[in-house]
Amino acid sequence: MNDKTFLMIPGPTPVPESVMLEIAKHPIGHRSSEFSSILKEVYENLKYVFQTKNDVFMFTSSGTGAMCAALENLVNEGDNVLCLSLGNFGNRWAKIAESRGAKVEKIEVEAGEVIEPDVLRKRLAEDKEKKIKIVTLTHSETSTGAANDIKTLCSIIREHGALSVVDGVTSVCAMPVKTDEWGIDVLVSGSQKGFMIPPGLAFLTANERAWKVYEECRHPSFYFDWAAHKKAVQGDTTPFTPAVNLIVGLREALRMIKEEGIENMNERHRRHAMVLRKALRAINLELLVKEDKNASWAITSILPPEGISVPDIRSGMKKNYDIVVANGQNQLKDKIFRMGTLGFVSDRDLIMAVGSLEAVLNKLGHKFELGAGVRTVIQALGEEI
Ligand SMILES: Cc1ncc(COP(=O)(O)O)c(C=O)c1O
Repeated sequence: MNDKTFLMIPGPTPVPESVMLEIAKHPIGHRSSEFSSILKEVYENLKYVFQTKNDVFMFTSSGTGAMCAALENLVNEGDNVLCLSLGNFGNRWAKIAESRGAKVEKIEVEAGEVIEPDVLRKRLAEDKEKKIKIVTLTHSETSTGAANDIKTLCSIIREHGALSVVDGVTSVCAMPVKTDEWGIDVLVSGSQKGFMIPPGLAFLTANERAWKVYEECRHPSFYFDWAAHKKAVQGDTTPFTPAVNLIVGLREALRMIKEEGIENMNERHRRHAMVLRKALRAINLELLVKEDKNASWAITSILPPEGISVPDIRSGMKKNYDIVVANGQNQLKDKIFRMGTLGFVSDRDLIMAVGSLEAVLNKLGHKFELGAGVRTVIQALGEEI
């Protein structure tokens, strides 16, 4: 049966019908008063989601655009940028910083691990002359499914005096990200993740400390220029023609997020991720991120059982159940598969996904107690986890 696709990749993620119906409406003029009042509501609700009193800028781009919008407005040639990398997306910060002529230093970890606060503390303590101007971090590293303790890491960065620039592309909405309270200087995210709308919009918020660094940026980006976006947000408009229909859809999605409550939404993601991890272990699967405390609440990376290939698991899920799970990226390709529980995901989806995975693995010859995964999901969903 066609037309029942369920995306369990870490973005794009499933979109609620009410949001799709909004997106399907005729486009409206982006300079109209009607659109301006939509933007006013959207900008206000983005502050709620980003947990900040500062403006949240919206770009017509993918998440990487917002990453460029961060560093391209902060970095001058020769600046020292320290990139804390858990994998592919942590490395992307380094590439963007390099493209601006920064002197980049990386702290990297093995796939599935996170940055230990003491490692960062030690490195920053060595920087007696305060040469490090910016530290980039990834909250939820989508390529591995590991999640940094950004609250602690950002407080260490603040003590040193550098600027913290955080990738919250798969964490905003899914995990607590208290921008102002935790002293995150710059935070970015993207629409096709926890926001429950299709790809095409990206977000950035920056605090006063970041603005001071922006003011010293000799060649700020043109398209992503913060000053242009600030002026636009304050006038309930956008600097350029935006993805009008996506923004109309976003208004609806943000209403849904507010109705659920951001804390409840985070908690739903935590529960789903932890229940999924428990169920996967119950069917004898090994997880890339060993400790629950280091696991992303958006994405779970799983090692295929001995003798069974990732492409076979993925095609079994797609062909038989129309569920799309992701492969690993780069050096993790065919070494892991990844299941997203990000955005518009319900308890029912989890039962369905684990049941389908059991059926696929059973057919492929994996040895486990058939039904143990679904039973674990049903039991764990009903208790405190
Ligand atoms: C953590 C993280 N950062 C950045 C990106 C880049 O976003 P995009 O592919 O929308 O440019 C992604 C995309 O998956 C991501 O998961």
